[in-house]
Parts: sequence; structure tokens; C-alpha cells
Amino acid sequence: MRTALYPGTFDPPTRGHLDVIRRAARLFDELVIAVAAHPTKQPVFSLTERLELVRELVREMPHVHVTPLEGMTVACAKTVGAEVIVRGIRTLSDFDYEFQMALANRMLDESVETLFILAAPEHSSISSSLIKEAASLGADVSAFVPESVARRLHEKLRPQKQRRAEGETLASRLTPDAE
Ligand code: COA
Repeated sequence: MRTALYPGTFDPPTRGHLDVIRRAARLFDELVIAVAAHPTKQPVFSLTERLELVRELVREMPHVHVTPLEGMTVACAKTVGAEVIVRGIRTLSDFDYEFQMALANRMLDESVETLFILAAPEHSSISSSLIKEAASLGADVSAFVPESVARRLHEKLRPQKQRRAEGETLASRLTPDAE
């Protein structure tokens, strides 16, 4: 039985992540997606929300499971019985960061290998931050994230958009000559 761990922040999960999940799931008997609590980043979605978003995406994949990641990735790999950590790479700059992380993980536990999956070209320009920025400005991001995620992004970031719209209304009321 070969198990792999796919760790990430998934804030939010994108079509690029889903592509990596599908491709990794074909290579292993079991794939565990570890959603990082990430106390250092400030995710838009809480850990509970990100777990829900990812679970929804893999609902129909029986050998793909989702778990929270609250400590070290290698420790989580041991806990779930994974011998391999899977990461997606989009660009050369991703490689730099991933290379360092893979080496650090190897120094922590050399029995756990890291496997890189190259992002499909159509996903190589996607990033969660760009998607959040676009969604907060009212853009349709459904080309970059699955439908369920696009809906949740819209719900989550709409208040910010409305606040901005209210601000603009107030500003234009305060400076009527500007119109
Ligand atoms: N297609 C499209 N986008 C992709 C992608 C793909 N195939 N793969 C990654 N991305 C993007 C994401 O959208 C995200 O974009 P953003 O930077 O704008 O938010 C970015 O790449 C990376 O996000 P994600 O894939 O969610 O992973 P991450 O880099 O945030 O995850 C952990 C990092 C959780 C794996 C790492 O911090 C970790 O292992 N933490 C636990 C502590 C530990 O063990 N540290 C390492 C050893 S020292």
C-alpha cells in the first residue's frame, strides 16, 4: 500500500491544486491532503473552511483523504503512513523554494521522499493570492478555481467589495463636483 501526502495552505484550493491531486491520486493507493493551519500566514479562509473546501473537491475520490496539518509535514507524513510528500511546481521560482523545503524535510527525516509534479501549462500562472485579489475586486474567478470555491470566495470577499462600493459612494457624495 503506497500512501502520499500532499501538504499546502489551500487558501483557497485552485484548479491547479486539483490537477495535482488528480494526477497524484493516480500514482498512489492512497493520497492524504494535509491542510496547513499556518499560524504565520493570514489566510482568508479559516482552517475549518479550507478543510471543508478541499473535502468538497475530493468527495468523489474514494482513496483521497483530507487532514489538518498543525505541526511539521514530515511528522504528519509519518502519522498517516506516507512515504512520499507531493508538491506541485509551476515555475523556476517555485523550484527554488520547493528545493529548500524538500532538503529541509529530508534532513528532518530521510525516509520521506519528495515528489514534484509539474503544473499543467494552463495552471502555471495561477496563484491563490492573485485569485483572492481578483475576487475581492469583483472579477469572475471561476476559470481558476472550481465552482464551489468560486461561490465561497464570492461570499467571503463580497463584504469587502461592498464596503469599497460604499466608500466610493461616500467619496463621490463628499466631492459632488468630481462627477
Ligand atoms: N497550480 C497552481 N497554483 C499552485 C500550484 C499548482 N499546481 N501549486 C501551488 N500553487 C500556488 C498556490 O496557489 C499558492 O499561491 P499563493 O502563494 O499566492 O498563496 C502557492 O502556490 C503555494 O500554496 P500551497 O500550494 O497552498 O502551499 P504552501 O506553499 O502554502 O504550503 C507548506 C506550504 C504547508 C507545505 C509548508 O509551509 C509546510 O510544510 N509547513 C509545515 C511546517 C514544515 O514542516 N515546514 C517545512 C520544513 S522546515
